[in-house]
Order: sequence, then structure tokens, then C-alpha cells
Amino acid sequence: MPINIAMDGPVGAGKSTIADCVARSLGILHLDTGAMYRAVGVTALKRGIDPADREKVTEMCRNISLDVSYESDGQHTFVDGEDVTGILRTEEASMAASKVATYPGVRAEMVEAQQRMAKSHDMLVDGRDIGTRVLADAPVKIFLTASPEVRARRRFLQLQEKGIHEDYEKVLDDLIKRDKQDMSRETDPLKKAEDAVEVDTSEMTFQESVDEILRIIREAFSGV
Ligand code: DC
Repeated sequence: MPINIAMDGPVGAGKSTIADCVARSLGILHLDTGAMYRAVGVTALKRGIDPADREKVTEMCRNISLDVSYESDGQHTFVDGEDVTGILRTEEASMAASKVATYPGVRAEMVEAQQRMAKSHDMLVDGRDIGTRVLADAPVKIFLTASPEVRARRRFLQLQEKGIHEDYEKVLDDLIKRDKQDMSRETDPLKKAEDAVEVDTSEMTFQESVDEILRIIREAFSGV
């Protein structure tokens, strides 16, 4: 049986970077499931399909082949053989991903693909519905969170580093909008699994967050 670890949390809690570092320390793969929803969102945009069009997006999603591979710089995401990794991190991609992730037909395709990958690899899987749906039986579940202001501030600084100048208030507004969309959708909304351990990183540095999660994982496996 492969080792599977579930990590969920709202946007900007630092999941992806923290999960990457934790997985590397443990010598296992990190599956960023958000990248898969982003790939569906940007593919819709590229094909002129409105992300708000549930039927067209769902049909498109059933007809594309979405793959993930691992290279020295981490996960790469492919749609019909084309590497789309480089275009997944824009605000436009974020909003499109959050929208397409509300469609049950899209979620069903993604969940199935994620479960298939996790069945054959030791993996830390991060997303929104991992502890509640994708890996509902995972032996360790982490719910990573931080206050909206701290998350918006981190996102704002990240964008600045990339040379993208967004208003802090706009970043906070978008983040609250996405939180709401992720938590209020009908199918598998973002919520903490009952047996997940909550880690609030508002007052923690990146390294402290990584260390705390490694401690929780090691403690969980020490009794096995
Ligand atoms: O983690 P992220 O910000 O890259 O995710 C992009 C969007 O995809 C986010 O708004 C919520 C959605 N998502 C989801 O619904 N379920 C997942 N397992 C992962 C992401």
C-alpha cells in the first residue's frame, strides 16, 4: 500500500510550497491538484469557452487528456500532450479554476485521476477535497490555514516579486471571493475533514510550518 498524505486548506495558505518541501523531505511525490483544475480553466479560456458555461466546460473536460509528470523542478501538467505549467499561475487562471471546480462533472474526472495516481505512488496530495473525498481514508490529514489578511499579504508580495503590481485591497477581495466560491459550492466544498489536524500558519514562518507538519506526519506514522 502506498503512503498517502492529505493536505487541504484555503487559497494562499501556502499549501503548494509547503507541501513541496514536506514531500521532498519525506522522499515522496507531491501532487498539486489545484494545478489540474487550473489546467482545465486555462484550456477553456484558450479554446474560447466561457468558464461560466458548465455544459461546455464539462464536455471539454471529458474529452481532454490531462497528465502530470515530475521533473527536477517539480510537477508539470499537460493537456493533450502540451505542457501548460507556465500559464497556470495568473489571476485569470485562478478565477477560471475556481469556477470550473464548481462543476460536478469536472470534479468527478479530476477525483478519479487523482485517486488513480495516489494508488500507485507514495504521495502527499494537496487541494480542497483531499481529506474529505479523494483520500478520505488517508492515515494523516492536514488542514492548513491562515487569516485572510495574512494570506492576501503573502499573495500580494508573491505577485510583487514577479513584477505584477496588484492593489492589496484587490488581492484581498479576490481571495475572499475565491474562498466563498470554494466553500459554498455544492459538490465537495472546502472544509476540514473531521480527523484532520489544523495548522494555522498566520504566526509561523515558512520553515516553522514545514517543521510542524513533518512533526505531525512523523508522529502519526510512529505508532504504525
Ligand atoms: O490550490 P489552487 O489555488 O491552485 O486551486 C485552484 C482552484 O481549484 C481553487 O480555487 C479551488 C480548486 N480546487 C478544488 O476545488 N479542489 C482541489 N482539490 C484543488 C483545487
